[in-house]
Amino acid sequence: MNFKSVKDMPPIGFGVWKIVPDACEQTVVEAIRCGYRHFDAACDYGNEAAVGRGIQRAIAEELCTREELWITSKLWNTYHAAEHVPAALERTLNDLGLDYLDLYLIHFPIALDYVPFEKRYPPEWVHDPDAPAPSMKLAKVPLSETWLAMEALKESGVARHIGVCNYNSGLLHDLMNYSNIPPEVLQIEAHPYLVQDKLIRLAKDYGLEVTAFSPLGSLSYVELDMADQDESILEQANVKAIAARIGCTAAQVLLRWGVQRGTSVVAKSTNPERMLQNLTAQDIELTTEDMTAISALNRNRRYNDPGVFCEAAFNSFHPIYD
Ligand code: A2P
Repeated sequence: MNFKSVKDMPPIGFGVWKIVPDACEQTVVEAIRCGYRHFDAACDYGNEAAVGRGIQRAIAEELCTREELWITSKLWNTYHAAEHVPAALERTLNDLGLDYLDLYLIHFPIALDYVPFEKRYPPEWVHDPDAPAPSMKLAKVPLSETWLAMEALKESGVARHIGVCNYNSGLLHDLMNYSNIPPEVLQIEAHPYLVQDKLIRLAKDYGLEVTAFSPLGSLSYVELDMADQDESILEQANVKAIAARIGCTAAQVLLRWGVQRGTSVVAKSTNPERMLQNLTAQDIELTTEDMTAISALNRNRRYNDPGVFCEAAFNSFHPIYD
């Protein structure tokens, strides 16, 4: 086995959120050809079958072997009940064409009412999309029930490692109290505008590896109307100055900052040049002063916040971090 533990997870992963299924197979093949070995997928991204075709094609073309790939996916909110957790993973594995995942994560600490596969897949956030004002319907499933079902997946080997996303420190403390098998990875939004120092330190104190999503900050959210064009961290004068001094791009500086502070990062690009640029960010080195200056950009700006987008998009007020 290539990966002995979560510490071997390749530090720069390729995220597939928002890649349209039609482009996804080819994008995944290109990313593997370019050198990516870590892919971050999810049921909710609606493109796992296409990701799977890309993986299978790359293996058939001998660009890599299955064992050389680290594949992460995430349990969607509608499958939190113990009886739905293994079926959700099975569906994901079938779509990806794999017989095990390297990492399976609880996507959000939010349990929604069950939606059968044949009714809608992926079920997304609202219970009845055809209702006059579609809204979320919560399910009374404690996170402890979901976690114990995740543990069974690790025990049976279909998920080599298990973890959580979008947990705050309170949920993490609690999880450490009831878990028999502790979580191995915490995936959270983290970038220089949302450094999350305390949460990352706590997770590491508990022995978890941390993965940062949206490591480039606002870029992903402009097209979703969740961020303004003019709040790009790439345009920050001192990030640009560091990039100019080193002879790299501002995006590489941000990704390297994420890796150098001890997190793995997952970024998406469908542009071949940016794809390669992002992967090679692991080769640059920032000084202690650079690291400090970039961290000082923190403004606790969270782009992916259910406390905001659930109300705006799904008529449901559902904060989880406040
Ligand atoms: P593109 O696919 O056109 O390159 P996320 O934070 O969700 O991973 O999304 C990354 C966003 O930033 C995407 O919109 C992507 O667009 C863009 N992006 C990715 N890499 C770079 C880069 N090196 N420089 C500038 N923009 C980038």
